Amino acid sequence: MAFVSHTPTILVFDSGLGGLTVFREIVKLRPGARYVYVADDAYFPYGQHTEDEIVARVVPLIGDLIAEHAPDLVVIACNTASTLVMTQLREAYGVPFVGTVPAIKPACASSKTKRVSVLGTRGTVKREYTRKLIADFAHDCDVTLVGAENLASLAEAALRGERVSDDAIAAEIAPCFLNGDGRTDTVVLACTHYPLLIDQMLALAPWKVDWIDPAPAIARRVSDLLGSASGLGETLGARILFTSGQAPSPVLAKALTPFFGNSLVS
Ligand code: DGL
Repeated sequence: MAFVSHTPTILVFDSGLGGLTVFREIVKLRPGARYVYVADDAYFPYGQHTEDEIVARVVPLIGDLIAEHAPDLVVIACNTASTLVMTQLREAYGVPFVGTVPAIKPACASSKTKRVSVLGTRGTVKREYTRKLIADFAHDCDVTLVGAENLASLAEAALRGERVSDDAIAAEIAPCFLNGDGRTDTVVLACTHYPLLIDQMLALAPWKVDWIDPAPAIARRVSDLLGSASGLGETLGARILFTSGQAPSPVLAKALTPFFGNSLVS
């Protein structure tokens, strides 16, 4: 389904900096695209807003961003938004969209103990969409939904160079680990912020599990949509925009380097 033959512009959107974990995988596959990363920091965290509030915020905001940046493709790198707004976005705008939703299907397929936990924001684990994924794909699997209250904020704080205590992270991930008749062996990272804390989560986990991060699969989907003719050349510029209008602090600018390399342009 290739549709772009010129240098494509890809807009990657999240409530904050978590979408960078998806962005970096896309850039690996398509370095020759133009990127605009938009963090809706003025409204972060989405996990603490109601469904109506998120729809009312995201649908018009994406419309404004499409009008301003004319992207060839928009990636909603946020589970809390994607589990709610993809249908409205596709109905409202003609641009192709790729969303990010909990990787329940691959997690249940690969779990050996058939005990899987889904770690997401409180919003994502409550969604009808997430419940349907479980009904459609969990079948023989026992799925535990874990709504983390502060983990996305902790991930942002860590990226901004603030100290985040092990206890705070351990408390958020603890409900994912069920031990009994077959213990949990797979945890779905159903919020794009959480891979930012993967080193700490690996160290703090009470036992070894597979952590499922959908970012590489999302990147492959983007690459398939772009087709073979575009976005493969030299690394082009990338921009990061904050809806608050703030520029990143020097500490954050440094932390962003691994995601953007030398391609960040203002
Ligand atoms: N990164 C977002 C997600 O994937 C949400 C974080 C938040 O704003 O609460 O769900």
